[in-house]
Amino acid sequence: DAAPEGTPRFILVIGGLGYIGSHTVLELLREGHNVIIVDNLSNSYQTVLESIKTLAAKHCKAQGVPMPLVHFHRLDYRSQSMRFLIESYTDLVMTIDAAGQQRMTYCSRIAGVIHFAAYKSVADSISKPLQYYQNNVCGLVDLLRQLEKYNIHNFIFSSSATVYGAKANAGAPLREEDLVHHDEEYVDGAGNRVVLQPSAVGLSCPYARTKYFGEAILADLAASNPAWRIVALRYFNPVGCDPSGMLGENPRGEATNLYPVLTQVLTGMRENLNVFGSDWATRDGTAIRDYIHVLDVARGHIAALGWNTERGDGFRAFNLGSGTGTTVLEAVQSLESASNRTIALNWSGRRPGDVGTCVASTERANKELGWFPRESVAQCASDLWNFVEKTLRRAPTTKPTAAKPEK
Ligand code: NAD
Ligand code: WQD
Repeated sequence: DAAPEGTPRFILVIGGLGYIGSHTVLELLREGHNVIIVDNLSNSYQTVLESIKTLAAKHCKAQGVPMPLVHFHRLDYRSQSMRFLIESYTDLVMTIDAAGQQRMTYCSRIAGVIHFAAYKSVADSISKPLQYYQNNVCGLVDLLRQLEKYNIHNFIFSSSATVYGAKANAGAPLREEDLVHHDEEYVDGAGNRVVLQPSAVGLSCPYARTKYFGEAILADLAASNPAWRIVALRYFNPVGCDPSGMLGENPRGEATNLYPVLTQVLTGMRENLNVFGSDWATRDGTAIRDYIHVLDVARGHIAALGWNTERGDGFRAFNLGSGTGTTVLEAVQSLESASNRTIALNWSGRRPGDVGTCVASTERANKELGWFPRESVAQCASDLWNFVEKTLRRAPTTKPTAAKPEK
């Protein structure tokens, strides 16, 4: 896959101006990688690009190192322009094959691809399943065909803890082996041979299925051609933001995830938080999730990219979670402490499709990627509140600015 010596190489980040993508691009630039960003701004704003550049330039100046290249292309990754873009970073070079024959081969300056672009709302996926399958699955298939054509085989995919579905209900930390795409065998501690078989039972919504299908397609592709090195990162609940307060989560649609809803209560856009369920089998009756700082998630991509480049082989999934569970009430308290304000609660019934507990086992990522999460939930909350105060109140938004009555 190597490009000729001396030409700059890039990491292509698709969906790179979104919440997790923007933090990962910043981390890539801080680590000295040149980056190509593709984003159609369907769920982000171009102002994010300026924040990334400002923060990266500040870092490079402080370190006395040159600023890496950042190329931004506003386009839909499913469009014809995407093919032209990949082609424009690829050279046709003469190579000698194993039989001593000369042949022309594509050598790309794109050293790796991180693919974030997708729709991610559980509720919208139920009302608009075809849009979700189109963007998250059909788009992925067409992209992979382009990458294969141009000999780009180093690929990182944004997956989700949602692929574990109802398996989370067992309450134990979720291990990557809890969801496999092909039969896998291993010998357990007692010397027994265990055969794992693929199963997608218990996925709660079309969004979850798009991530499951995405992974399954990638696992099949890797099995078909040994050139592929593919990592699926199963994020648990990414929260928080860069401590500068200049980057954070600012989706265009209605917020439905816990921390974005909490910030809306704090900024007066909502009156209260609907707490979905007080009868879960947890320490305070509210549901437990594994909140992971988005900077740790971004660092997980750098670790995965290095691992994939050096040791990647076929398809491998890794959880990116903190390994620690936090209840809804503990999450509320984290933001109350960070903001020094009170959050009004409205006790509601369970949200359809929810599970009581969903926590990661981080053992595989610890051992194989050498990745360890560093930040606490308290840090997530204080960084998030800093972003709300410094940027979100003034940021472009498509949301109504007046307080919104609860139904
Ligand atoms: P996001 O919506 O903030 O970022 C996605 C970015 O992709 C946006 O900037 C959007 O404009 C862009 N995009 C979407 N469709 C596109 C297209 N067709 N062409 C070009 N750009 C397109 O979401 P995020 O929270 O940063 O999530 C990133 C990825 O991680 C997604 O695949 C999501 O499903 C997955 N994920 C997110 C979470 C989470 O809680 N945030 C958890 C698990 C997995
Ligand atoms: C967390 C907890 C809610 C809002 C979802 C997707 C998952 C992944 C992350 C992308 C739950 C409770 C929430 C509210 C509440 N995304 N809650 N009141 O459900 O773990 O995961 O986002 O891949 O696929 O399913 O995250 O933030 O929505 O909820 O009580 O207004 O907060 O019931 O227990 P979830 P969440």
